[in-house]
Amino acid sequence: MSTSNRKVEHLELCANRDVESHRDEHNLKRTGFEDITMVHNALPEINFKEINTSTVLLGHNLAFPLLIASMTGGHPGTKQVNESLAIAAQELGIGLGVGSQRAALEDPDLQDSFRIVRDAAPDAFVFGNLGVAQLKEYGVEGVRQAVDMIDANAMAIHLNFLQEVIQPEGDTDATDGLELIEEVCRKLKIPVIVKETGAGISREVAQKLCKAGVSAIDVGGVGGTSWAGVEVYRAHDKDEPMGEHLGNLFWDWGIPTSVSVIESNLSVPVIATGGIRTGLDIAKSLAIGASACATALPLVRPAMKGPQDVKVKLEYFLAEFKAAMFLTGSATVSDLMYAQLVITGRTGEYLKERGFDTSRFARR
Ligand SMILES: Cc1cc2nc3c(=O)[nH]c(=O)nc-3n(C[C@H](O)[C@H](O)[C@H](O)COP(=O)(O)O)c2cc1C
Repeated sequence: MSTSNRKVEHLELCANRDVESHRDEHNLKRTGFEDITMVHNALPEINFKEINTSTVLLGHNLAFPLLIASMTGGHPGTKQVNESLAIAAQELGIGLGVGSQRAALEDPDLQDSFRIVRDAAPDAFVFGNLGVAQLKEYGVEGVRQAVDMIDANAMAIHLNFLQEVIQPEGDTDATDGLELIEEVCRKLKIPVIVKETGAGISREVAQKLCKAGVSAIDVGGVGGTSWAGVEVYRAHDKDEPMGEHLGNLFWDWGIPTSVSVIESNLSVPVIATGGIRTGLDIAKSLAIGASACATALPLVRPAMKGPQDVKVKLEYFLAEFKAAMFLTGSATVSDLMYAQLVITGRTGEYLKERGFDTSRFARR
């Protein structure tokens, strides 16, 4: 199957099938956010109407700390989806990524489905996207082409080896990945974001990425869209029992998003992605160290309908986020980053086993 057709198949599966991580045995989502409780401030001493939700990420202003995560482009049928996302991002003053631009490197006729994002969002923080495997194939020159295609403000390099190991056609040669990332960081003039796509980033990997010179880490943790899950449906439809078996076994594999934010918090901004479903998830992410969040799946169906539906969904995120800021007495995003919270349950245990002192969030 061509890269281009696979893009449409992914979009349709994400719109119509249950592709999220399963809840755990306590019926909790796997992001870990349900184990995080922000400490309520009964006397916030701020005016809700004066709350400032704006922030700066990699030198760009965001009206609130949310990005539309990398999703699509690469097939003529995806152009309208990208246009809807871009119009909404432009109007609300947030940033957005495009999906993997590999298809357009293979077939320049497909560039249009990506370029629409810059056309519809001339002022937004827009970031490009390629997989680490394409660095090997197309080199820094390919990355530059992807940047120019959409006049990108930053470039995201995605890591998706969980998905690749399940796909029969997957690219499972991960050798030289770090060297290739290091080379792109050195040679590209715009910031490089390295992003996982649903299995999370550990402290050890984050340390290597920081050393390689990345400008931000998008943790893409467990708890939202499961790409192993997506591959289960594809394998089933194609009668590939091994892919279906592996996808089911590894459906919830990886590091929960909240844990990964804490693990990745070193010297560069951290973006929390993977199961960000409410503005409260955004508030919790920032309070544990993220600089911004990104969301993908909740916007798929709205984007298929049009920009207005995307805007409505994003406005819910904003209203929820602002309510959380008010109830923690946070007049600004910087205040929110010091809001008190308690981490319990499986997430607390996981972090303690990994050597993180969670009590510092509760008593600051
Ligand atoms: C339809 C769809 C397509 C995606 N395509 C890409 C892609 O091309 N490149 C990429 O880096 N991530 C891609 N992602 C992953 C998202 O950027 C994000 O990391 C992941 O879906 C977790 O966020 P969520 O739980 O909010 O969906 C895609 C996600 C969706 C839902």
